[in-house]
Amino acid sequence: MLMFGKPGAGKGTLTARLVEKYDVMSLSTGDLLRQHIAEGTDVGKEAEDIMARGKLLPDDVVLKVVASKLDRIQPKHWILDGFPRTLGQGKLLDVHLKKQNIPLTLVVNLDVPDDVILSRISDRWIHLPSGRVYNMSYNRPRVEGHDDVTGEPLTKRPDDNPEIFSRRLAAFYASTSPLLSYFSTAASSAAHSSFNHYQHPHQLSFHRPQKLAVKSLSGNTSDEIWPQLDQLVRNMFPGLRTRADTKESKRRHSLSDAIVAENFEANGSFK
Ligand code: AP5
Ligand code: MG
Repeated sequence: MLMFGKPGAGKGTLTARLVEKYDVMSLSTGDLLRQHIAEGTDVGKEAEDIMARGKLLPDDVVLKVVASKLDRIQPKHWILDGFPRTLGQGKLLDVHLKKQNIPLTLVVNLDVPDDVILSRISDRWIHLPSGRVYNMSYNRPRVEGHDDVTGEPLTKRPDDNPEIFSRRLAAFYASTSPLLSYFSTAASSAAHSSFNHYQHPHQLSFHRPQKLAVKSLSGNTSDEIWPQLDQLVRNMFPGLRTRADTKESKRRHSLSDAIVAENFEANGSFK
């Protein structure tokens, strides 16, 4: 599924709740890019200034960062947060998923008023390595200024100030919101449900064609949005296991964590 919404709508927060509860993996391009910046990679150097100015990165740079991770999502249920973000990215994702015969089942649009979001942004703190989000009025860390899980220090995002935030909102309306009608059109056309078209003929009997659903959830607070989202996910993915049902390590929640763990198991050391 895709978690879609304005900057600050709660994509990261609600994705984390789903990942905490269900056996799903998540990938946030924003978190990934912030990690590149922290590590000083070439992508990070290019991203730093663009993100600080509240602009979107070029599609080819984002694709370079997500392509290899997208290749790993197949065996699991997955949530993408912050990708795709332009029509170009949406089309590329479509092609990628169809080629691999991975269905996109659900697009969730978090519909939160601009003024509500603005008031949240100044209160937000993040744990950079994991992307965990805290808010001083809504979701405080147990120890002020420190991550609940690792105890490491929390930081402010450089793009979390009113001036830059209004540019991010403008970029959302200009480049990202048209994606919603793109997905809605795909959802209402029979063509999109025919992902089996790309299957080898021998595989046809293994998968039922699945139609894409686009759902908007509205609300000002998590008390309003979380129960709607939880119910929606249970309806759309009736076989989805909860974490309590699985033996998987509680820490291995994000796609990056899983890849690191795989490398560790394969090589005996972290690369
Ligand atoms: P990214 O990191 O994805 O930022 P964003 O889309 O602007 O969204 P945010 O992470 O700011 O908000 P969110 O919706 O995750 O909300 P959150 O849960 O934190 O991208 C950053 C930049 O990277 C972009 O500007 C761009 O430059 C670049 N980039 C990333 N992907 C790209 C792509 N695909 N293509 C090109 N460029 C790309 O919540 C916000 C606050 O509200 C928090 O304080 C939270 O605690 C609070 N909150 C959340 N839910 C609730 C609630 N229900 N009630 C009360 N408070 C709440
Ligand atoms: Mg986020």
